[in-house]
Amino acid sequence: MDLPLGVLAFYGTLVVWLALLVRGMKRRSFAPFLVFGIALLLVLNGRYLVDGATNSIAFFIGIYDVLDNFGVAESEGAAALAKCPDNACTVWGERYLNHPSWGVAFHDRFLNGPQLRTNLLYGHLIFNSLVFVMMHVQLLRPGTGNNKAWHRVIGRVSFAFLTIGTVCAIWLAAEHGPVGEYGGSLSMYGFWFMSLCVYGCAVMGVAEIRKGDTKAHRIWMIRFVGSMWGAFWLFRVMLFVLGPLLRNWEAAALLICIWFSAPLGILIAEFCRRRLDRQTTPSNVAVGAKQVSANI
Ligand code: HEM
Repeated sequence: MDLPLGVLAFYGTLVVWLALLVRGMKRRSFAPFLVFGIALLLVLNGRYLVDGATNSIAFFIGIYDVLDNFGVAESEGAAALAKCPDNACTVWGERYLNHPSWGVAFHDRFLNGPQLRTNLLYGHLIFNSLVFVMMHVQLLRPGTGNNKAWHRVIGRVSFAFLTIGTVCAIWLAAEHGPVGEYGGSLSMYGFWFMSLCVYGCAVMGVAEIRKGDTKAHRIWMIRFVGSMWGAFWLFRVMLFVLGPLLRNWEAAALLICIWFSAPLGILIAEFCRRRLDRQTTPSNVAVGAKQVSANI
C-alpha cells in the first residue's frame, strides 16, 4: 500500500510545532511558534490552488482518519464514522474505509455540488489566509511613527479582504441546514456565530480607531487576531482531539469546534495581552530594571 507521505510529513511538522510551543512557554517568547503556524497554514490552504478542492479535502480528511479510526474495528464503525463512495474521500487508499462523517459530507458537497460552492470556498480560504498574514504584519508594525501610513493602507485592505472571506463563509454555512453530518442548523448558526466573533472584533477595532482611541483599537485587534487563530488552528486541533473521543455521537465534536473555537481564541488572546501589559507597565519595567541593576 502506498503511504500518503504528505499526511505523514504533516504529522512530523505537528511534532515540531508542539516542540516550538513548549519552548515558547519556557522562554515566554512565542514568535517561532506563531511564524511556524502561519507558514503551515499557507502550505495547507495553498494546496487548494495547486491540487483542487476535492483532492485537498481528501488530504484534510486523511489527517483525521488515523485518530478517528484508532481502536475501532473496520466492521464495528461508530455513529460519527461513515463510508464514502469508492473510498475517494481519503488519501489513505484502502487502509481506512471509515472516515469522520463530517469529512464524507464535506467531500461530497464539493465533489457533487455546484461550481458556485467551490468558488465560495476558494474565496473564503484565499481572502482569510491573506488576512491571516496581514494581521500579523499589522501587529508587528503598529501605526506609530513612520509606520502610520502603511498601517492604515494595510488595515483598510485587510478589512476589505476579511469582509469578502466572511461573506463567503456565511454563504457556505447558510447551506448547512440539510447537512446532518455537520449538525444541520446548529452548524449553520454556529458558523454564523463564529463569523460574528471574528468580524465583530474587527468592526470594534475599526470603530475605536475612527474615534481616535488607539488603546481600545489595540485591545480589539488583538482579540480579532485571537479569534482568527481560534477559527482556524484551534478549530482543527480541537477536532483532531475530540473526533476520536466523541465518535459515538455524530457531529458532537464538530459542533463543539464550530461554536467554541473562535471565542476560546479571543479568551486566550485576551489572557496573553493582559499578561504582556502587566509585564510592560511602567512600574513593572522600573522594578525589573532595579532588579537587573541589583543583579549586576
Ligand atoms: C469567520 C470565521 C470563519 C468561518 C465562519 C468559517 C467557515 C467555514 C466554512 C462554512 C467552511 C466550509 C464548510 C462547508 O461548507 O462544507 C470553511 C472551510 C474552510 N475554512 Fe473557514 N471559516 C472561518 C475562518 C477561517 C480562517 C481564519 C481560515 C484561514 C485563514 C479559514 C480557512 C478555511 C479552509 C482552508 C477551509 C476548507 C477546510 C480546510 O481545508 O481546512 N477559515 N470555513
